[in-house]
Amino acid sequence: MALALEHAGVAFGGFQALTDVTLTVEPGQVVGLIGPNGAGKTTCVNVLTGFQRPTRGRVLLDGRDLSRLPPHALRRAGVARTFQAGRLFAGLDVLDNLACTGVGLGLRRAQAEHQAEAILDWIGIDALQSRPAAGLPYTDERRVAIARALIGDPRYLLLDEPAAGMSEKEAEDLAALIRRIAGERGVGCLLIEHNVGLVLSVCAHVVVLDGGRVIETGDKAAILASRAVREAYLGSDAEAA
Ligand SMILES: Nc1ncnc2c1ncn2[C@@H]1O[C@H](COP(=O)(O)OP(=O)(O)O)[C@@H](O)[C@H]1O
Ligand SMILES: [Mg+2]
Repeated sequence: MALALEHAGVAFGGFQALTDVTLTVEPGQVVGLIGPNGAGKTTCVNVLTGFQRPTRGRVLLDGRDLSRLPPHALRRAGVARTFQAGRLFAGLDVLDNLACTGVGLGLRRAQAEHQAEAILDWIGIDALQSRPAAGLPYTDERRVAIARALIGDPRYLLLDEPAAGMSEKEAEDLAALIRRIAGERGVGCLLIEHNVGLVLSVCAHVVVLDGGRVIETGDKAAILASRAVREAYLGSDAEAA
């Protein structure tokens, strides 16, 4: 069982945003996806969730080719995501943000509310239930976005820079939550994150993109030892450092 990109390519007009990207996320695993700005990280998430059709290659869910499914169908198939900006339903309170998503996934209203309460409680943010989503502090907004993505018990969760703008302590709390999502709920997570230290602390396996291509994959030691990674992040001057 796995969610995978297989030799995926994406072209925007003449611009090649992704070239021959292959990556795999298994249930219960947290895979890190890192790379400089513009490397193609969000485009990978967009392809895996049906927001962007690949121009080459495939999206595979348990071996089935889902490359042509729209976002809502992939969500129902068990692939959930968060966005770089929270994108909560601003006019609704926190509970309804989750419950409406549940109804959209086919749950009855009461079931959806019940599940929403259970997930907020599991994360430890049940006190936020009746707060308007629009006024939430940044870190709460992020956690609510993750809670909403867990409605319907997805098997895979793709997190696009969930710790952006957080303090070290807040990022550590978030890392703990991501470990629990994988460990306790068995969800396969793909974590896109600028904070490389955070990624290496959470992910047993990391994929590094640069210029739309995979330039390195491996465990923490392999990433830290990689000259290609150093050069991608620091420029070729890194050799001198
Ligand atoms: N819809 C689009 N149309 C044209 N170019 C795009 C589009 N989306 C992304 N790009 C370009 O593709 C490249 C990769 O973008 P993105 O996946 O957002 O990178 P990252 O998330 O790693 O910062 C960037 O050069 C970006 O400008
Ligand atoms: Mg991005």
